[in-house]
Amino acid sequence: MNFRVNRRRRLYEGKAKVLFEGPEPGTLVQYFKDDATADKGARKGIVTGKGVLNNRISEYLMVKLGEIGVPTHFMRRLNMREQLIRKVEIIPVVLVVRNSVAGSLATRLGMEEGTALPRSIVEFYYKKKELDDPMVSDEHITAFGWASPYEIDEMMSLALRVNDYLSGLFLGIGIKLIDFRLEFGRLWDNDEMYIVLADEISPDNCRLWDIKTNEKMDRDRFRLDLGKVAEAYQEVARRLGIMPENLPSDVSEKTYEIAR
Ligand code: TMP
Repeated sequence: MNFRVNRRRRLYEGKAKVLFEGPEPGTLVQYFKDDATADKGARKGIVTGKGVLNNRISEYLMVKLGEIGVPTHFMRRLNMREQLIRKVEIIPVVLVVRNSVAGSLATRLGMEEGTALPRSIVEFYYKKKELDDPMVSDEHITAFGWASPYEIDEMMSLALRVNDYLSGLFLGIGIKLIDFRLEFGRLWDNDEMYIVLADEISPDNCRLWDIKTNEKMDRDRFRLDLGKVAEAYQEVARRLGIMPENLPSDVSEKTYEIAR
């Protein structure tokens, strides 16, 4: 950790990121760690260089989404592991968008992984760590006041725009966007409230499969103990054309045979 990080007030530490007080009011610094978890946090590990890659990949995707008019909390990348973000009020509802069957959908409905869905499906989860983010319906969300009907509509429509854009972007570099998870926050500008994309978009919260081989290029490599986790994240960055220089030497000098 560098000197500047240690001097800032730490506000929150999650599984893969730390949030620090930002340099100006209304800002935060988001620090990306190399920590990886699986089995609801029961299995932990370190993927060397993951934080650097996720910081860079998430910056790239958030900037691209900003360019097509999707509002995000991202302001700018500060260094290899940190980005400056707008402080938002996180909505305790997580959206998962699915294009193909995988993960918990495959388990829950007994469907075969990789099956293309007849249309994209959006699911809601209540963001509550102690409960492992249970799946909920819009009825629960409005009844318990986690988000208003307007906010649900806005999050749905933003999630589908993100899905359309990212599916095309990844397709162009030989990657299938199987599913991903989004978080949103409320941002106030005087009396007006905006819903903006928050958190990160990276191989930690997307399922990305190589189009030719179906090889997994995301956190499932850690979850399922498939090996070559860092290499897969690097390959995503390489294909996006944003492979960062100066990665820790034990990561950057490997050859990336995965998913070609
Ligand atoms: P799931 O199939 O396990 O429900 O996951 C759906 C998507 O959400 C997948 O892209 C992985 C992502 N995800 C996270 O980013 N964090 C989580 O804690 C979970 C459970 C899923």
